[in-house]
Amino acid sequence: MVQMSTSACLLGGLLGLFLIVPVQVAQTPANMCTPLKTLNDSLSHRRRYMKHNFPIKYTIRVHQNEVFKLSNISRMRLQVEGLDELVLQRLWFQVNQGVLKKIIRVMTERHPSRPYMAELERRFKDAEGVFVLSHHTEVFQQELPETIQDTWDHLTEEPDRVPQSRWRFVSPKSLMDNFCHTMHCLFSECFTTTEVQQNYCSVSYWRKGRKKS
Ligand SMILES: *[C@@H]1O[C@H](CO)[C@@H](O)[C@H](O)[C@H]1NC(C)=O
Ligand SMILES: *[C@@H]1O[C@H](CO)[C@@H](O)[C@H](O)[C@H]1NC(C)=O
Repeated sequence: MVQMSTSACLLGGLLGLFLIVPVQVAQTPANMCTPLKTLNDSLSHRRRYMKHNFPIKYTIRVHQNEVFKLSNISRMRLQVEGLDELVLQRLWFQVNQGVLKKIIRVMTERHPSRPYMAELERRFKDAEGVFVLSHHTEVFQQELPETIQDTWDHLTEEPDRVPQSRWRFVSPKSLMDNFCHTMHCLFSECFTTTEVQQNYCSVSYWRKGRKKS
């Protein structure tokens, strides 16, 4: 018994990185669901706060890679064979952290949606904290697939080094829609109801929803 665990430890110590990483199952840990559902509650008010409190056709300048939609997820899944869900989830946090920051930056202190955004950002950070804590640190040092790494590098570029051609002008509501839809897609285990298996990753699911409401 003792011998076995000693050798297991040794092996683990020696191969640490190589052993732990592939074994990591890319599933949403159950403790992620509470903060994500709280975030979902905030997002359900996004029309009111992200549309009605802004001028018509108002847009925010974001990085091209901060436009992260369902279509990006399906494209990446096709492009990268055996793409780990966890990689996409990490990217989701990285992208949306920047998106939230950019939206908040354009709002004055007295903007009527500011408290809403501040709360949303707080809830996002809570979810991120739980996400980080519920995975081994090795997971976050894991090398990313090339295309994802490229995206990542672009996202963390100094703003004044970003060429004009890589900026996009997008409405805050549309950014928040992307945020919400991709969250449901990448953490679908937290949002599935008992009876029906919804495909949150399909664009048509959200179209249908819009028609209803
Ligand atoms: C997420 O929010 C939507 C409203 O936008 C709501 O219909 C849905 O039930 C919520 N899901 C969960 C799991 O809380
Ligand atoms: C998503 O796709 C669009 C093109 O449709 C692209 O401009 C954008 O950079 C992609 N986002 C990410 C995060 O890769």
